[in-house]
Amino acid sequence: MCGIIGYIGSENAAPIIIEGLKKLEYRGYDSAGIAVYEESTSQFNVVKQKGRISALESRLSSIPLDSHMGIGHTRWATHGEPSDINSHPHLGNKSKIAIVHNGIIENYKKLKERLERKGIVFVSQTDSEVIAQLAEYYYNGDPMDMVIKVANRLEGSYALGIMCADQPDTLIAIKKDNPLIIGVSDHGNFIASDVPAVLKHTNKVYYLDDKEIAVLKKGSVQFFNMDKEPISKSLETVTWTLDSAEKGEYQHFMLKEIMEQPKVLRDTIRSAIYGGDNQAIIDKIDIESFNKVVVTGCGSAYNAGVVAKYVFESLCRFPSLEVELASEFRYKDAVIDEKSLVILISQSGETADTIAAMREARAKGATTLAIVNVVGSTIAKESDYCLFTLAGPEIAVATTKAFSTQLAMLYILAVRFAAKLNKITKEKESELLSYVEDLPAKVDSILKQVDAIQKYASTCVVYKSIFFIGRNIDYAIALEGSLKLKEISYIHSEAYAGGELKHGTISLIEEDTLVVAISNCERLHGKLMSNVEQVISRGAKVLLVTKLKDVQPTDRLSVINIPDSFDLFSPSLSVIVLQLFSYYVAANKGANIDKPRNLAKSVTVE
Ligand code: AGP
Repeated sequence: MCGIIGYIGSENAAPIIIEGLKKLEYRGYDSAGIAVYEESTSQFNVVKQKGRISALESRLSSIPLDSHMGIGHTRWATHGEPSDINSHPHLGNKSKIAIVHNGIIENYKKLKERLERKGIVFVSQTDSEVIAQLAEYYYNGDPMDMVIKVANRLEGSYALGIMCADQPDTLIAIKKDNPLIIGVSDHGNFIASDVPAVLKHTNKVYYLDDKEIAVLKKGSVQFFNMDKEPISKSLETVTWTLDSAEKGEYQHFMLKEIMEQPKVLRDTIRSAIYGGDNQAIIDKIDIESFNKVVVTGCGSAYNAGVVAKYVFESLCRFPSLEVELASEFRYKDAVIDEKSLVILISQSGETADTIAAMREARAKGATTLAIVNVVGSTIAKESDYCLFTLAGPEIAVATTKAFSTQLAMLYILAVRFAAKLNKITKEKESELLSYVEDLPAKVDSILKQVDAIQKYASTCVVYKSIFFIGRNIDYAIALEGSLKLKEISYIHSEAYAGGELKHGTISLIEEDTLVVAISNCERLHGKLMSNVEQVISRGAKVLLVTKLKDVQPTDRLSVINIPDSFDLFSPSLSVIVLQLFSYYVAANKGANIDKPRNLAKSVTVE
């Protein structure tokens, strides 16, 4: 969703802001803009533009902006169409205040009507403009007073960067329910929606909490609460490197992130098995005290939850285990209480529905355990326990490496819980953990088959529809394969449990349909192969992804073999084939792989 950045320091702000905005592109946007404070006139210079940041950048090349302070924004339209006028930054009527906003102001109509009655003229259709107008209306020379008054009147979510035309040395920020970090470097200070925007300049950041006010000057950052009292916060060192947020030799972030999977899996597994922070947290969880487990998340994170359901069910034999879409869970008045453990899965830790699910669970007394990739994110901070996947920054909208690390973490949780509950022996626990430890090397060996997968995928751009089938754990990962394909290639796709085909979907199977079949459950292999026969006899072509070596390819059946592994952990291997397949189908279609249309990396609004 929207991204914001702000800078105050000794260097020229505009190029720093544009560069930061480029690092926030992955969040999804349809327009971008920048406002810098011009010292010679004590005014804001605002340039905003519908479309890509490159369009904004080329406009800026003819408008030299020289300033030590500025704010920038990438907008993902929610209120008002994508247009120059609706883009941020927004100014108050008298151009005394400039703001950038990430979030949604739910009571903007009421506030706007009140301000209009006082003669204030709005120029955009956005909810965000009301913040600029309100801020200017309240401004009495004290930026902190103004921010507090504005925040007290806003309902909804916001991360805000604000400049006042008569305060050339102050950049002010506040947030509620949307992320904002404060970066500290030796030449100046930053506000940003996410760490990659500032990594080139610093890895020292503060994570702002809700309703904390940050006051940034060239050489200092101070924090205050809503009573204007100073508060102290700890400066954190980010372990992500600049390289990890760059594309390097790869054409797309998605391919780079697919290729990084052996490493990030190793890091994550180590931290959860060999005395790392994650292991300490897993050890603390008293699984025996719960009588119900609910796993929830959105999109791919939900799919990881579906995989987890099969694994937990099989290993832990929880009497009550559910997996729920977070967007449904939050409104269903779930039957949970103090004896429930709610596991939240989220790469960003900022998905609005998953945050709401977490808050709902906590309000009902449940214990929340989060699996999150972004340190300092809302879910990481608010959950009772948080396990961090060590996937590093994931920039491509389609998740790959974060998903894989979520699966690994869930397997380890399942094994450890099963052992604590005495459902498996110590020997079995060690054997299962060694299967998990073997996964990175096996993923590596699948990545070496990239040419064969690419070659096959290049023949698949012609399909209008591609189905994914599997049974049991293979069905769970079929859901992810289908999501991956449709989100980046725009080819229609659905995932079905093999046994369900004949209850409806098989009527869609005809000549020119491709079915991707996944078969890694040995005991169900025969059943799945019957489904394969059924679709082939109706004209479909099939790509079979399997660890079982007994199937010979034919002119209608192609086979990609993956290494052997414990059945329940095989999704971590089949998904690599599915990711590469989706990537190369989309690449052959010339799709905008890292930033698919209409999608955002973190869905911070409902
Ligand atoms: C996956 O490729 C998607 N882009 C999307 O489904 C994503 O997994 C979902 O929006 C959840 O995001 P989160 O993990 O950051 O909560």
